[in-house]
Amino acid sequence: MTQDQPPHEGTFPDSVWMDVLSAVDRTYADLVDYQERLERQNAELESLRSFHASVLASVSDILIVVSRTGEVEEVSASVPARTHLARAELQGRPAADLFAAADRTALAAAMRRATDSHAPVTIEAGLLTPDGPCPVEVSLSPRFDDRGRSAGLVLTARSVAELRQAYAELERSHAELKAAQALLVRNEKLASLGRLLAGVAHELNNPISFVYANAHALERYAAKFEQYFQQVQAGASREDLMRLREDLKLDREVRNLRDAVHGARDGAERVRDIVEDLRRLSSEGSGEMETFDLVAVTQVAAAWVLRGARHKVEVVTTGLPTLSVTGRPGHIQQVVMNLVQNALDAVEEVEVPKVTLDHAIVGDLAVLSVCDNGAGVPDALSQAIFDPFFTTKPVGRGTGLGLPISHKIAEEHGGRLVLAEKAPGACFRLELPLDRETR
Ligand SMILES: Nc1ncnc2c1ncn2[C@@H]1O[C@H](COP(=O)(O)OP(=O)(O)OP(=O)(O)O)[C@@H](O)[C@H]1O
Ligand SMILES: [Mg+2]
Repeated sequence: MTQDQPPHEGTFPDSVWMDVLSAVDRTYADLVDYQERLERQNAELESLRSFHASVLASVSDILIVVSRTGEVEEVSASVPARTHLARAELQGRPAADLFAAADRTALAAAMRRATDSHAPVTIEAGLLTPDGPCPVEVSLSPRFDDRGRSAGLVLTARSVAELRQAYAELERSHAELKAAQALLVRNEKLASLGRLLAGVAHELNNPISFVYANAHALERYAAKFEQYFQQVQAGASREDLMRLREDLKLDREVRNLRDAVHGARDGAERVRDIVEDLRRLSSEGSGEMETFDLVAVTQVAAAWVLRGARHKVEVVTTGLPTLSVTGRPGHIQQVVMNLVQNALDAVEEVEVPKVTLDHAIVGDLAVLSVCDNGAGVPDALSQAIFDPFFTTKPVGRGTGLGLPISHKIAEEHGGRLVLAEKAPGACFRLELPLDRETR
């Protein structure tokens, strides 16, 4: 008797039973495993199906999945709602049948084109509804299977009227945006005009009071001379006249008279210069492009800001002595005033405040760099500072419009305004096109 043979008929050794039992166990475990996998896959399939169904139910556009042979495979809930045909009625129909007869040839051609070119094609067609054909814009996108072969198309369509309405809304928002932007520019102009006027008032005050004081002195001298000449005319004696001349201190007053005339003229000249600056600023804001010296404009702009400054700051001009650019000098002056004002604000707490204005030519660009030794702009804010109304200044000190408007003006000139990396402090670079002859 060999070991593999049963000892008696119908009986097996324990080892065989053990093998059988463990085989049963394994099979059972495999079965359980298989069932679990099946349930999991079922659940996944179920959730995919309900996801699929929820998408098809909620998509408001017309969505039609078309087979390779052109029949409807699946539709979004919006299709039965618009065509008044049940989903089951729609499935299997040629997709072209859902559209007006006159559009079917064009639709078939568009389907072929989308499939052949592997790219979406858009056409207008009339979707058949109980109220007649509804004009829709149809976008046909080709579908492909796992191996990249054509599997049909997906048609999405939206009513042309809806599209027009959306477009009109877009246009309206755009117009509103433009109006708001124009208002911002106007407000900023008013704000900088306000700053300018404060500077003007402050600046004119000095020479005018100078002229006034000197004119007052002249009046006094004139009164004395009148008195003296009256005596001369009245035939006063030489001694009397000598005494009067002494009493009235006429010899000294003659010297003073000259000083007063000079003083009044200096004051008047200062007023004339200020008016000249102002006239340049206002007339050049008109929008005419012209060739001008950026360095001169920078100097005038910086001088204006400094006049209104609350504290003393060293402003150094470096680089080229002249720099000919093309643009609107009034607008550029406004940009420089904003940059210099920001620099002054940034160095307010600095012990030895310093602002540098550097002029250079880089390639075919004129570059003005306005740098300060303040705290600089934190990395996280380097973009935000160009946003309208972004300001870190207290209420009443800043509107947050200086940089965005300046940025816009630079772009209108075909140039750029950027925050250049430079520590310590901030360094803003204004790049403008060079005058053609300088290039
Ligand atoms: N030179 C600079 N150094 C440090 N921070 C700056 C500098 N220039 C601008 N900033 C930052 O950018 C912000 C925005 O500047 P912007 O000129 O647009 O507005 P503002 O100066 O706050 O107000 P406005 O210019 O309208 O009076 C400032 O509040 C400040 O935080
Ligand atoms: Mg500012």
